[in-house]
Amino acid sequence: MRKKIIAGNWKMNYTLSQAEDFVNEISKQINVDDVDVVLCPNFVCLDRINELISDSNVKLGAQNVYFEEKGAYTGETSIDMLISTGVTYCIVGHSERRQYFNETDEIVNQKAKKIIEKDLTAIVCVGETLEQRNKNEMFEVIENQLINGLKDISKEQMKRNIVIAYEPIWAIGTGVTATASQAEEMCQFIRNVIAKLFDENTAEVVRIQYGGSVKPSNAKEILNMPNIDGALVGGASLTNDFVAIVNYD
Ligand code: PGA
Repeated sequence: MRKKIIAGNWKMNYTLSQAEDFVNEISKQINVDDVDVVLCPNFVCLDRINELISDSNVKLGAQNVYFEEKGAYTGETSIDMLISTGVTYCIVGHSERRQYFNETDEIVNQKAKKIIEKDLTAIVCVGETLEQRNKNEMFEVIENQLINGLKDISKEQMKRNIVIAYEPIWAIGTGVTATASQAEEMCQFIRNVIAKLFDENTAEVVRIQYGGSVKPSNAKEILNMPNIDGALVGGASLTNDFVAIVNYD
């Protein structure tokens, strides 16, 4: 039985004091046992949020990392810097990073491998555009993102250090959610691709999240799908709605 994992991706929202206020407000209600809950604030807030959640089950995640160890990379943040603030999860390949910051599958792969090297968990995002879905290319697009993004990762690393997030780009921040059956169909497809690239056992173990306009009103239906093991939540993770999503059952 795969344990559900629900992560809040705050994106570029909340100053330090706003983040503190918000976490103080919700922390007790998201401190649960049966679901892994991860908060992914901006880099500036990581250290402080780590303090605020330190005596709970809630985990700290980052929204990005650079794949080099250290050095002259102005503006970038290394994995050791993230670890020093208590980060144990890191999102890579979010569609906004692919779209606005030109992140390719190869860069996603380098970042995922760096996260694995330090034994953290990478939440690797994949997703198709509306145009690709309308042309029925979505399965091919997702398969290629997985083949290239997960290159040179071992079965053991897949099982231990990787979570996949399926986020159809047309459903992110738009209020349009994939139907539970569309989300399930793709998550099942992703599991089949993992079985092909690794093996059946690995595919059974790896957790696959759905992301894209998850809210309290649709969380239960989505999270009860057999191949959907959690949610990556954007907009709704900035409000009390996140409490309702974490306690969806
Ligand atoms: P959304 O974002 O929930 O606001 O659609 C999801 C995401 O981008 O991770």
